[in-house]
Amino acid sequence: MTCARSLRWLFWRRCCRLGSSCPARPKQAVIDWVKPVITGIGIAGVPVGSTRTIGSAGTAIVGTIDISSSPAALRPTGRRVDKRASSVPLLDNRDCTAFLQWALAQRDFRWLGFRKVRRQVCKRLNRRIRELGLEDFVAYRRRLEADPAEWRAFDECCPITISRFYRDRSVFEALRRLALPDIAARAACERRATRIWSVGCASGEEPYTLKIIWDSDIAPSFPDTPVAILATDIDETALARAHRGCFEPTSLRELPSHLVALAFDRVGALYCIKPKHREGIEFLKQDLRRETPGVRFDLILCRYVAFTYFADALQRRVLMSLTHRLAAHGYLVIGTHERLPSVEPALEPLPGTPQIFKLVMPAEH
Ligand SMILES: C[S@@+](CC[C@H](N)C(=O)[O-])C[C@H]1O[C@@H](n2cnc3c(N)ncnc32)[C@H](O)[C@@H]1O
Repeated sequence: MTCARSLRWLFWRRCCRLGSSCPARPKQAVIDWVKPVITGIGIAGVPVGSTRTIGSAGTAIVGTIDISSSPAALRPTGRRVDKRASSVPLLDNRDCTAFLQWALAQRDFRWLGFRKVRRQVCKRLNRRIRELGLEDFVAYRRRLEADPAEWRAFDECCPITISRFYRDRSVFEALRRLALPDIAARAACERRATRIWSVGCASGEEPYTLKIIWDSDIAPSFPDTPVAILATDIDETALARAHRGCFEPTSLRELPSHLVALAFDRVGALYCIKPKHREGIEFLKQDLRRETPGVRFDLILCRYVAFTYFADALQRRVLMSLTHRLAAHGYLVIGTHERLPSVEPALEPLPGTPQIFKLVMPAEH
């Protein structure tokens, strides 16, 4: 049986029985051999210029580190910030709206994306304005116009980190039935780990959901094909929460109850992800607007980040770089309430699941 045929067969049966022309299941030494070499990845606490393996043994990615942040830098700060903000009177919401419509456009953001969640951003801006001893949003606009360094503080007020496990249930169902068995079978044929990138991973809800599904539904059929999940976000507070891996019950409300029971330990009022489902996930601070990992992925999830909050031109640039980071026959997933900014002939939506696109021809490089 050829690899292509066995892929189709595996696709339907989700069971790995590779025939004569397919290589045998990978041994550890073989996995080491096929690990791709990458650059452009930073890992918290790892010195710049060093080489590291991302993921647990045999799962994945080897690279040269060219950005780095200390674990201490990942300590939570934002939540405290918001609490303090609520203790001072809020400036007028209409003034904030007018200010945001101006400021977001200066930063390649899209006002429409922020409209419904603007109060969260306004609260943070309110605190920043008080911190600077300024009167109102008009004065803050003047400050931004006079002091370009202040834009960095503005940017830090913008990330919306709302997420939950199994968000958009139908998308995860389709990934479980179609895309994950397909990419697992392909990786098994090529004797390598499966590589997944969760872009804008927030507090880890999305990558942990993927890992739970992989461990419960995919790994039993592909026990020798490990998965390496790279989860990136710009927000250090969210990444620190992702590292802790403990969640309020409300974050789990969409996750099927058997998966909650399988994957979490109850710790007081929180649900903490079991160590088994943390393995193979690497969290990394990275700004999607400026950097992407130097490796290709079988599956990329970019949901409720670029295609909600970024301006059109930036969305198109991001789409191009995501497409270039897809492996042959890889998948790109966007949010249910999102659309791609332009028609991308290399990407074809899956029938019945328009949020999942398959790379049907290699992207130009
Ligand atoms: C609304 S959450 C979406 C989380 C998850 N993808 C989901 O669908 O549930 C958006 C996340 O994207 C992150 N983000 C925003 N701008 C980013 C950027 N330029 N680079 C990387 N992450 C970014 C935010 O910090 C936030 O955690």
